[in-house]
Amino acid sequence: MNVSLDPGSVKSAALAARYGADATPAAGPWNDTLALLLDHRSIRGYRPDPLPAGTLETLVPPDQPAATSSNMQTWSVVAVADPQKRQALARIANNQKHIEQCPLFLVFLADLSRLDRMAAAEGITFQGLPYAETFLVAAIDAALAAQNAVIAAESLGLATVYIGALRNDAEAVAKVIGLPKGAAAVFGLCVGYADPQAAAEVKPRLPQPAIVHFDSYTVPDESALRADYDAKLAEFSRRNEMAQSTWTERVISRLAHTKALNGRDRLRAALGALGFPLN
Ligand SMILES: Cc1cc2nc3c(=O)[nH]c(=O)nc-3n(C[C@H](O)[C@H](O)[C@H](O)COP(=O)(O)O)c2cc1C
Repeated sequence: MNVSLDPGSVKSAALAARYGADATPAAGPWNDTLALLLDHRSIRGYRPDPLPAGTLETLVPPDQPAATSSNMQTWSVVAVADPQKRQALARIANNQKHIEQCPLFLVFLADLSRLDRMAAAEGITFQGLPYAETFLVAAIDAALAAQNAVIAAESLGLATVYIGALRNDAEAVAKVIGLPKGAAAVFGLCVGYADPQAAAEVKPRLPQPAIVHFDSYTVPDESALRADYDAKLAEFSRRNEMAQSTWTERVISRLAHTKALNGRDRLRAALGALGFPLN
């Protein structure tokens, strides 16, 4: 997206693509960073072209600047290049072909194992480690670092897609990439150059009144907002030749039956086996 030509109309177009023309906020700040954020889209097809040297270090810098709870840095990342491991991970994730295609595949981990090792080295017990709170801290840390990587990648003209389907079988993932006790994959991330065949539009989101509240949570007229969003997403699906049409249909197919969790209904047990008792 070129933001230098006519910032006003570029802003309107970007906001309309994201929220729909009728929901475009009239005023507000605008800059290249906001343009980049609004232009995000997930890409599910990649060219085989390798990435420039140093891309991994740029996306996940050694001095990762993302915020991290109490500076505990309870996350890690595994860059998986081995084709056999890629294949195994793709199989776990419902055979998503882009896991094998993309030049860079990252597995983001909630990682308490480093602190576990610190406790052992210090000859103490970290009583705070086996709690759901500490797992959540680690998962949030991983997500913040990953989203920084996504924004950095998109700023370089690269495409990405998160792979939550690795949680279909968190124990199998741990075996494939050799995780120690206290580390679990929270999601993967494909990074690469978009295959033109897999070009995707910006996917519309719920309008802000459905999401943003002031001072206290007030349930808006959700049926009207949902009907409007359903129509937008149906139109998006038609334009992008996708099978499912409305948002309501998509959510129903994702949540109405446990089977659609594809094994993630066993996540709590899997996390327990991987060293997260979630007390
Ligand atoms: C944590 C997380 C896990 C995801 N897992 C998958 C996945 O396994 N496969 C996939 O194709 N997309 C996955 N996505 C991408 C979402 O489907 C996508 O972000 C959403 O449909 C909105 O589309 P957009 O990113 O193009 O705006 C995931 C996104 C997130 C945030």
